[in-house]
Amino acid sequence: MKRRVAVDDVAAHNQRMWDRLSAAGIPWTRPQGTPPKTNAAKRRFLDPNDRLAGLPIKGQRVLALAGGGGWHPVLFAELGADTTVLDISARQLKTVRDLARSRDVKVRLLHGDMRDLSVFADGSFDIVWHSHSIVFVPDAARVIAEVGRVLAPAGVYRASTMHPVTLRMYGTWSGTGWRFRQSYFEDGAVPYEDATWEFKDVKVEAPTLEYGHRISDLINACADSGLMVDGFWETTPGEISTQVPLRALSREQLVAERDDLEPGSDDALERYLPAFIEWRARKVSPPSDSGSRASTATRSPRASGSRRAGSPTSRRPRPSR
Ligand SMILES: C[S@@+](CC[C@H](N)C(=O)[O-])C[C@H]1O[C@@H](n2cnc3c(N)ncnc32)[C@H](O)[C@@H]1O
Repeated sequence: MKRRVAVDDVAAHNQRMWDRLSAAGIPWTRPQGTPPKTNAAKRRFLDPNDRLAGLPIKGQRVLALAGGGGWHPVLFAELGADTTVLDISARQLKTVRDLARSRDVKVRLLHGDMRDLSVFADGSFDIVWHSHSIVFVPDAARVIAEVGRVLAPAGVYRASTMHPVTLRMYGTWSGTGWRFRQSYFEDGAVPYEDATWEFKDVKVEAPTLEYGHRISDLINACADSGLMVDGFWETTPGEISTQVPLRALSREQLVAERDDLEPGSDDALERYLPAFIEWRARKVSPPSDSGSRASTATRSPRASGSRRAGSPTSRRPRPSR
């Protein structure tokens, strides 16, 4: 019998969706671009904003969490890390396996749910690299607690995900402004009408379940798991960031770009609000009152019945490079 790796029906559903997306070959499921040859340039390709600044990669134990489908695990391995990737989609893992073979590096592949890292002993990793996937589970704190457990003392957790405000607004343009699909204080998958993932000529119906985790909940989950956040960024692809990276757009460029975009499009929205959040945390000793912070959610008796439907627009996730 096939081993079930999903810890609940949400994960089982998203597992099927990611297998489907991977079969269709959307960008998140295929390595994008070609990495340069030198180690320094490869490192910039992997971590363009230098979130791992000052840290060695060679000889480190790296977990690419839910990191199937792309370059990240393979590049960590090429840079000399002892690399493991865990992902719920067998197809996403196969992409990494094929890529690792073609580049002649070793990556350990594990089929699993990011909320259950029981296969790893405490303190097994020096770096957990977690890109654009915590949005697919309802209980982010459970993932973060597991990350806190498997990181070694002083280990680093770097994660990114969709911005929880912007995620609630995609595809809601009314002609004069955007609306919200869900209150920021409401839990549950963000509702949407159009489940088409579209990239150039690839179109695939995949109604993934996505959760817009509140920033305060993510940060408090880190604090409760012995992870001290020492960097936090809000970014939009195209070098727009709240943290003035070297290549940030000037105000004039930003306004000029925004005025060229289709009004109400996802790209236009992302010129007003960030597409992503990204954070880095360091493992310190776990706090003694672990688990004391409550979620900031307010539960309303009419939580699921009070939304206004937005106009359907094509739903296009945004690749990170
Ligand atoms: C947007 S892709 C990100 C892939 C890669 N990390 C990157 O940044 O290119 C999301 C990944 O999360 C994985 N995923 C979704 N739910 C998961 C879960 N519960 N546990 C582990 N992986 C999951 C998917 O299979 C997919 O590979």
